[in-house]
Amino acid sequence: MIKPAIFSTRQLFQAARTILDEHFQVDYWKGDKLSRADLLKHVADKDGLVCLLTEKVDEELLSAAPKLRIAATVSVGYDNIDVPACTKHKVVATNTPGVLDDTTADFAWTLLMAVARRLLEGDSWMRSGTWNGWDLDQLVGGDVWGKTLGILGFGRIGRGVARRALGFQMRVLYNDAVRAPADVEKELNAEFVDRDRLFRESDFISLHVPLLPDTRHLISKDNLEKMKRTAFLVNTSRGPVVDEAALAEALENGKIAGAALDVFEHEPKVHPALLTRKDVILTPHMASASLDTRTKMAVMAANNVVALFEGRRPPNALNADALGLK
Ligand code: DGY
Repeated sequence: MIKPAIFSTRQLFQAARTILDEHFQVDYWKGDKLSRADLLKHVADKDGLVCLLTEKVDEELLSAAPKLRIAATVSVGYDNIDVPACTKHKVVATNTPGVLDDTTADFAWTLLMAVARRLLEGDSWMRSGTWNGWDLDQLVGGDVWGKTLGILGFGRIGRGVARRALGFQMRVLYNDAVRAPADVEKELNAEFVDRDRLFRESDFISLHVPLLPDTRHLISKDNLEKMKRTAFLVNTSRGPVVDEAALAEALENGKIAGAALDVFEHEPKVHPALLTRKDVILTPHMASASLDTRTKMAVMAANNVVALFEGRRPPNALNADALGLK
């Protein structure tokens, strides 16, 4: 029997390859950077696609791949996938929710602590060989414990960030399109507030919203103006949630104290004014990058593809209902 043909835009981890290789004929991209032209060429005759958040699955790709039945992104965010276009082309779109929440929450905290306590400045100073010993006012930063943490987006990751705040005796404010159930609020000691209040009262703001028309440039000049001058911003969600030019200006004018960004408005580019700032920490979209978690994500994507070709509903199908999958 001829196995369905899959294009995987990366080599993936062995655990995911083992699953895919058992069921499919897989063309794993071997080169460095996959160009759009190469993507379109390789997917053209395939039945399935395993891709990353950097690869757009849109009308153009779907039209170029008439046999395609599934597009499985190895990411929880799926702003790279035009889901309605997939539905139109009868292609199942899947993502990888759930497995990266705690790892990402850990990293949001890594950034929060690092920016507040000026970790990278301390590290650079030590490496420069110019530190002359302890002094009273060296690298004084902001306290974390006992402060107010504002969480924008209170899904699984946002809640994970709140859970970690319990150990730091923080007051937690949150905002989300949907209010969390009372027992969750109680367990996490989190108070639902409107965005305006969250901006005004938080010492730290951590972003966990998906990229939607309503959240694009949520961190705007206006909202930055509302923040405390001593506040820090942490972004592990999606880059375009922050207006980087407005952020650079706010930092330059002392409107907020600092920012730690793992995602960028125009990845892989970073607004040049942010690159030279000591009050900014920049990391390369690595919040979910633990070996365990990235492996789980790849395995999850592989299992979604297997499910479809075994006639089951892929567990993480985004358009299962629209496609009438049982
Ligand atoms: C995602 O999965 O959407 C992250 O941005 C990468 O882990």
